Amino acid sequence: MAIRNVVQVGDEVLRKKCFPVEKFDEKLWQLLDDMKDTVKKEQGAGLAAPQVGILRRAVVVDIEEEGYFEFINPVILSQKGEQTGWEGCLSVRGKSGVVSRPMKVKLSYFDRFGEKHLLQAKGFFARAICHELDHLDGVLYIDKATQIEQN
Ligand code: CO
Repeated sequence: MAIRNVVQVGDEVLRKKCFPVEKFDEKLWQLLDDMKDTVKKEQGAGLAAPQVGILRRAVVVDIEEEGYFEFINPVILSQKGEQTGWEGCLSVRGKSGVVSRPMKVKLSYFDRFGEKHLLQAKGFFARAICHELDHLDGVLYIDKATQIEQN
C-alpha cells in the first residue's frame, strides 16, 4: 500500500496510448492497491494507470453513489444519450471544465483476477468511466471541454 505521485498535464506520459494488461499478477494487484490508496487520499472520482506513470489499460473509479471499482482492459460496447456537466482531473490541478458525455454506457472489463464482466452505468458513474477510459488513449477532459475555469 502506497500513495503514488500523480503525473500533471504537460507530461508526455499522459498523451500515450496504453497497452492492454496481459498478466493478472501481483504486480498488477500492487498497482491497483496503490491506485486505490491514491484516489482515496486525493479524493478523486477516478484514476487511470498513466496518471501514475504506468502505460497499461487499468483504471479505478470511486464515487459515492456506486462505490469503488477496478476496470482492467475496459471497452465501451455501446452508449446512449448525452449529458453535459462539470468535471475535473487529478492531473489538471485547480481547474474544472464543462464536458459532454454519454448519459449511459455499457462496458466490458476484466477484474484483477482476469474474470470478464459486463456493466451498465448511467449519470455521473458513466461520466467518470468515460473520463478515465479517455486517459488510456492519451485524451484529457481539457481536450473536450467547451468551458474551463480556475477553481
Ligand atoms: Co482525469
